[in-house]
Amino acid sequence: MGKIRLGVNIDHVATVRNARGENYPSPARAALLAQKNGADSVTIHLREDRRHIREKDLKEIKSKLKIPLNLEIASTKEMMRIALRSRPRFICIVPEKRQELTTEGGLNLKHKRNFLKKLIYKLKKNKSRVSLFIEPSLKDIKDSKKLNADCVEIHTGNFCNLVNEKKNYKNELKRIRNAVNLGNKLGLEVHAGHGLTYKSARILSQITDIKEFNIGHFLVGESIFVGLGKTIKEFKKILK
Ligand code: PXP
Repeated sequence: MGKIRLGVNIDHVATVRNARGENYPSPARAALLAQKNGADSVTIHLREDRRHIREKDLKEIKSKLKIPLNLEIASTKEMMRIALRSRPRFICIVPEKRQELTTEGGLNLKHKRNFLKKLIYKLKKNKSRVSLFIEPSLKDIKDSKKLNADCVEIHTGNFCNLVNEKKNYKNELKRIRNAVNLGNKLGLEVHAGHGLTYKSARILSQITDIKEFNIGHFLVGESIFVGLGKTIKEFKKILK
């Protein structure tokens, strides 16, 4: 099995900062600490409502980080402008609903399809690697290929919930495995993310050909107790 890359999502460092309207803890400091401790990339989601990461963070992190920055954006004109201007190495297009607590599902690839196609085309031309955040569905994998994405990131939220609640996750695991296999067959690079913990990451790391995991909420939470560096190193051990 090849080494799986770890993308460290630091959105929730900004959540803690914004809870008090101060300028600490600093997401840029967390990004650099992640880099120092073996993260393969750093992920930030610039939401339309700016509830955690802000443009100032994007600029600062982009200018200081040596490893790839993975910017998550909704498929909107505003985000297209920002992404083209900041030109992060990686971009993941995600669905966004204003009231949601977090990204609740994969993209609807039919919604505003022409705009989505144009967005992917422009971002790729601007030399960013483009990923689509989708459900583990064969149809969405085929559609992502048709849209000419470089990668797909499979939404692992349902699977992780089942694991956390100690419920039977076999069917969901099979869905993910089938989606990964088809993605690879079609030449898409396949990633996975959302809701991952040590336990769920360990199970999913057994699927060969998932190339990258993006992990945030659990990782930042665990860091409160043992530190960011130690938590990243533990995930790296699981994914090796
Ligand atoms: N991947 C994508 C596309 C996401 O939107 C998120 C959440 O922002 C994650 C991964 C990370 O999920 P979590 O914070 O639950 O680890």
